[in-house]
Amino acid sequence: MNRKTIICVTPNAALDRTMVVPDFAIGRISRIDGAVAVAGGKGLNVTRAVRILGGKPLAMGLLGGHTGRIVAAMVAEDGYEALWTHFDGETRTCTIIANVDGVSTVINESGLIGPSDWEALADDICAAAERDEAYAVCLCGSLPLGAPAEAPFALIARLNAIGARVWVDSSGPALETAIQAKPFAIKVNRSELADAMGTKLRTVRDIRAAAGHLIADGIGLVVVSLGADGALLVMKDLVAKGISPAIQPVDPIASGDCLHAGIVAALADEEDFSEALRRGVAAGTVNALYAGGAQFPYPHFQRVLRDTRVEILGA
Ligand SMILES: Nc1ncnc2c1ncn2[C@@H]1O[C@H](COP(=O)(O)OP(=O)(O)OP(=O)(O)O)[C@@H](O)[C@H]1O
Ligand SMILES: [Mg+2]
Repeated sequence: MNRKTIICVTPNAALDRTMVVPDFAIGRISRIDGAVAVAGGKGLNVTRAVRILGGKPLAMGLLGGHTGRIVAAMVAEDGYEALWTHFDGETRTCTIIANVDGVSTVINESGLIGPSDWEALADDICAAAERDEAYAVCLCGSLPLGAPAEAPFALIARLNAIGARVWVDSSGPALETAIQAKPFAIKVNRSELADAMGTKLRTVRDIRAAAGHLIADGIGLVVVSLGADGALLVMKDLVAKGISPAIQPVDPIASGDCLHAGIVAALADEEDFSEALRRGVAAGTVNALYAGGAQFPYPHFQRVLRDTRVEILGA
């Protein structure tokens, strides 16, 4: 490992089981051919996308019980480097019931950890960030029940103190707490930013202003993803918009994670911020063309990248 390692943390990892149930109905017994299970959670999507893009991810997070062992085995079989923190409970299972007409029902367990489990994870992340002199630590997704309310704040404060560049992609109270600790960067979508700021964000100008407040407060970089409209990157001395080619999306879930991965991987590779945004937007866009999270082929990313551009809105 070297300074280019990107630590991708999934505090609330899951076994995601997707079943296609054509005759799904409440109260009925359905018989299906099988289910597809994958190791799930936003940090694992970032892990996959970073590797496709040629970066060096290290997957970290909490795993417990039989389901935790299955998730660890799946990640190992796929050849990812990982450093898991084990807890005494059971890793959650999330169930996606897909109908043939494209309507999905999703049942997510919340995940539950004990009081000392979060501390153990925080210690492991700080130790890895110091030992491996990681390029960045990406904190991704929700927190399990049982994590202390101030958990992201305390962890980010510790990581800031050791000089790690922290990226946060979260929502709700976890994001609000994280923002107070002033991480290096946050990646949000429009509604996550609106919720965190307690305002409505109707126009790009509104989004730019909200991101500007965060920058004035001491966050280094804010990326706001806008679905088919691309993404906005706001820093003290740069405001840029990434614009992707028009596509027919197949499955845009995890496109935000691929945008996140694309930007961080490019920065770790010493690209500048505007080129990193271009790469991130292309990664998010190509992800939307494939079913499953972060499952796109690199040559297709390169083709989409050729048609992705960045407009500088301010410097
Ligand atoms: N329909 C689309 N057409 C073109 N590009 C898209 C589309 N949907 C997503 N993208 C690309 O992916 C990026 C991230 O998408 P989005 O804004 O949906 O993220 P998100 O809401 O954080 O998603 P998630 O949390 O599921 O990962 C966008 O900035 C854009 O570059
Ligand atoms: Mg997202």
